[in-house]
Amino acid sequence: MNSALLKSRLGYGCYALGGAYGKKLSRAEAVQLIRLAYDLGIRYFDTAPLYHTEEILGEALARHRDQVTIATKVGAYPGAERLSREHITASCHASLRRLGTDCLDLYLVHYDDDATAVDEVLETLEKLQDQGKIRAYGLGHLPASRTAAYLEQGNPRLVMAEMHCAMPGQYQKLRSLQQKYSFGIIAFSVTGRGLLAGEASQPADAGLRSIDPLFRRNKLASGLRIAAKLQEMARDSGATPAQIAIAWVLAQPGVAGALTGPADRRHLEENCAALHLKLDPALEKELTALVYREAEAFRQQITREIASILASPARGPDLVYCLEHGVEMELFPRDEGARLLTEILRGHNLARCQRQLQSLLHSAKSPK
Ligand SMILES: NC(=O)c1ccc[n+]([C@@H]2O[C@H](COP(=O)([O-])OP(=O)(O)OC[C@H]3O[C@@H](n4cnc5c(N)ncnc54)[C@H](OP(=O)(O)O)[C@@H]3O)[C@@H](O)[C@H]2O)c1
Repeated sequence: MNSALLKSRLGYGCYALGGAYGKKLSRAEAVQLIRLAYDLGIRYFDTAPLYHTEEILGEALARHRDQVTIATKVGAYPGAERLSREHITASCHASLRRLGTDCLDLYLVHYDDDATAVDEVLETLEKLQDQGKIRAYGLGHLPASRTAAYLEQGNPRLVMAEMHCAMPGQYQKLRSLQQKYSFGIIAFSVTGRGLLAGEASQPADAGLRSIDPLFRRNKLASGLRIAAKLQEMARDSGATPAQIAIAWVLAQPGVAGALTGPADRRHLEENCAALHLKLDPALEKELTALVYREAEAFRQQITREIASILASPARGPDLVYCLEHGVEMELFPRDEGARLLTEILRGHNLARCQRQLQSLLHSAKSPK
């Protein structure tokens, strides 16, 4: 299931090291943390140009290059808004240079654009593969229809998606694609960005988490119920809630690897111990039942919840909540959602964005 590409099933992601969750580490601290992950048994590392951590990762792992899997990404980022042949090739060469390596083990497309044909992207990736610049390519969390198009026309070996006990929806969609195509799933945010570890229920000043739709309203209430169950299981099993959450993800069929990304040394030590944790089958079954019960209950009420939020003037984080969960449940079209999200995050005319969301909701079907 393509897991041979990943030299360990649990990987360390460098997103938080660039300050995404509000904590900024010095370069020396970040290098130390990556080396600690290596010493704790991690052999798979994930970064992206947008995280600004490729150079740090290259420096930290220079001595161990052959022992590790290094994954980075390419995207139609602002400033290079097309995933053209030229952009992919230049981006790949720049990543190789920053990482100080001759070949990227895994190159993921995240943020593609509708204007570029899937064929063109695939042709470019396959050329880079033939040239020995990348060992394999895969997909970062792209819309389901684009993921299916790439799988139909090319050979992405791994597909990345947010997946944890409080967010199994994208995983379920990828599982159905695994009936038809051969690829492994890489789960990210396996601790629910700390929520499932039981320490992050009040993330008011925690960088991205202050607008994170996982940390608000009914979704937060649902996540906290799951976190409470993990805590109860932890008391009985001797493992911690975060370790059980990670072991659960790794135990799910079709999952080739999982990424966690703490910036705190103690959290890293705690999470890495999950590499060797085998869940008791009865406990895993009980947790799985809760995960899908919560997901179904959330699905059944989300349309009503969004309608009630949009019925009175809403703040930016609430609009992000409506938008992200509405797109996830396929109430809103993804492209329109991405456009509105950019506007909301820039604080552009929130009242107009809210009216557009109301109109999208009006024409939406029931959630899938
Ligand atoms: N998040 C995304 O949108 C995204 C998208 C695509 C790919 N990825 C890749 O996936 C990687 C992993 O995702 P992630 O960073 O969201 O994973 P994560 O480990 O679930 O979340 C990291 C956050 O959770 C906290 N945390 C982790 N373990 C904890 C513990 N045991 N106790 C308390 N708090 C804990 C960390 O706090 P401290 O910093 O205090 O330790 C940090 O703020 C990323 O680094 C990136 O490489 C992420």
